[in-house]
Amino acid sequence: MISRRAFLRTTAGSAACLAARAQDSDSRIEVLAAEPIGVIAPEIYSHFVEHLGGVVYDGIWVGEKSAIPNVGGLRKALVDALALTKPGAIRWPGGCYADQYDWRDGIGPRAQRPRRTNFWVDSPEWPKNARRDGPQAYEPNQMGTVDFARFCRAAGAQPYFAANLRSLPAQEFWRWVEYCNSPAGSTTLAAQRATDGSPDPLNVRYWGVGNESWGCGGNFTPEDYATEFRRYTAWVPGYGARLHLVGSGPNVGDLNWTRGFFNKAGGSLNNMWGWALHHYSWNASAGRTTDWTAGKRDALRFDAEQYYEILHEANLMESLITSHWGVMGEVDRRHRVKLVVDEWGAWYAPGTEPFPEALLGQQSTMRDAVLSGLTLDTFQRHADKVAMANAAQLVNCLHALFFAHEDKFCVTPTYHVFAMYAAHQGAQSLRTLISAPQVSYPRNGQTAILPGLAGSASMNGKRLTLTVTNQSLDTAREGEIVIRGAAMQTANLVTLAADDVHAHNTFESPRAVEPKAQSVAARNGVLVHRFPPASVTKLEMVLA
Ligand code: AHR
Repeated sequence: MISRRAFLRTTAGSAACLAARAQDSDSRIEVLAAEPIGVIAPEIYSHFVEHLGGVVYDGIWVGEKSAIPNVGGLRKALVDALALTKPGAIRWPGGCYADQYDWRDGIGPRAQRPRRTNFWVDSPEWPKNARRDGPQAYEPNQMGTVDFARFCRAAGAQPYFAANLRSLPAQEFWRWVEYCNSPAGSTTLAAQRATDGSPDPLNVRYWGVGNESWGCGGNFTPEDYATEFRRYTAWVPGYGARLHLVGSGPNVGDLNWTRGFFNKAGGSLNNMWGWALHHYSWNASAGRTTDWTAGKRDALRFDAEQYYEILHEANLMESLITSHWGVMGEVDRRHRVKLVVDEWGAWYAPGTEPFPEALLGQQSTMRDAVLSGLTLDTFQRHADKVAMANAAQLVNCLHALFFAHEDKFCVTPTYHVFAMYAAHQGAQSLRTLISAPQVSYPRNGQTAILPGLAGSASMNGKRLTLTVTNQSLDTAREGEIVIRGAAMQTANLVTLAADDVHAHNTFESPRAVEPKAQSVAARNGVLVHRFPPASVTKLEMVLA
C-alpha cells in the first residue's frame, strides 16, 4: 500500500499544501494570536547605498541624458521595482564613505560639482581589472542630497543620512540638517536647496552620527565616541522634523563598545533614538580561520558545509540582538533607545561581481534568499527591540536586491524575499512556537546543528502573515500549522525555492529564481504544508 507521505509526493508535487490531518507531519507551527510582541516597524525593510563601486553610478544614477529609461537621472527600472517592496528607509552615503563625504560637494549646479577620490579605490578589495577612470573610481557628485532624497521619495522610502564625524566639524552636521529641513525661504541654505530642485524641506528624520566609529569612522574608544556624539548632537535643530539620531554602535558582538558608550553617554542618551549594530555573514571556513579575507568563500561555488556555515553566521543575529539589548538596558532601563541593524547580509570572496567596477559586488543565490528570510524573521521576533534594519547593499554590491549595468537590469532572489515579506510591515508581531527536527551537518570533522524550520508571524486586522524558512539543504519538512486563539479559513501561499540551491538570476536569465503562488484551504482550523529544502515560504490567512 502506498504510504500517505509517498502519496503526497507523487500527487501534489514538491510544494504540496494540504488541508488535512497531518498524520506524518514532523513539524508543528503554532501562532499565539493573543501574545503580541510589538509592531513590526516598516523600517525593518530598509536599505543601504554607499558610493563604493557600482552602487550609485550605473546602479542607481544613470544621468538625465542617458538613453537608459530614467526619472530625472535615476534608473527607472530600479525605482519601480524597489517601490513594489515598500522600502522603509535608505541609508546613504555610507558606510565608511560617509566619514569622508562632504555634503557640500553634492549641492549646486551639477556641472560645477567637484570630482573627488573614492575612498574605496585604494582599498585592497578594489578589483585589479576594474577601470580607474570611471565614476566608480571617483566621486563626481552627480547624485547629491536633493537627488538622493528624490530617489527615496520615488521609491516610497525615507532618507536616512549618515553624517561625517571623522573629518567634518560638528557645525557641518547641523548645517546639513539646515540645508535639508529648514522651511522654504527661511535660510540661505533653504534657498540653495530650492535652486537644487527642492523648495520644500526634505524633512529628513533619520540621521546617523558617524559610521563604525570604532574603525574606519575614526578609531575611537567608546568613551571618546560618546563625547563626540554629545558634541555633535547637542542642540541640533530639526526644523519641524523630529530628529531620530542613530549612534554608531558595535562591530558584531563587541559588548564593550556598547557598554562603554552607554556608561559614558548617560544623559545624552536622551538625544539618541537608535543604536546601530553591524553584522555580516562572511566566515564560511567552519572554524579553520578567523581571518577576514581567508575566511570568505565563493558566492556561487559552495558546498554543504559552506552553505550551512553562512546560515549559522546569519543565525547569530538573534543572540547579537538580545546581548546588546541587555547591555543597553543596564543604563537605559526603560529601553528608550532601539536597535538599528543598519548593515547586514552575506559577504563573500571577490570573483562574482556583475561587472569589474562593482567593488564588493557578488552573486546572490537561493542561499542568500534563505539568509534574508531567516534574518527578517529574526528582526520580527524582536519587533520590540529592532526599529530599523538595512540590508547591505541595495544594488551591485554584497547582499544586493538588484544588478544593474548599462541597459541591463535584474532582481536577485533576495529581492523576492523582501517583496514577499512586505506584508508584515506595520503588523503586530506574534509569538510563534516552531518545533521541527534540527538540521545537523558535518563541520570540520565534528557535527554542528541549525534550526530546521524558523519563522515569524504577524497580524494586521484579520490578516495573519506567517513566514518560514527551511534551512535544510536536502530535507523537506511537513508542518502542521495552527493559530491558537483564532480560526483559520483560507490561506494564500507563496514559495521561493529552486531545484538547486546555487540557482540565481543573471542579466541573461533574470527569472531563474522567482516565487510561485497557490491558494489553499484549512480543514478544522489546521493547515498542513510541506516546506521544500532551502526554501522561503509565506502564508497569508484571513482569520474568522
Ligand atoms: O558595506 C561595506 C562596508 O562595510 C561599509 O562601508 C562599512 O560600514 C562596513 O564595514
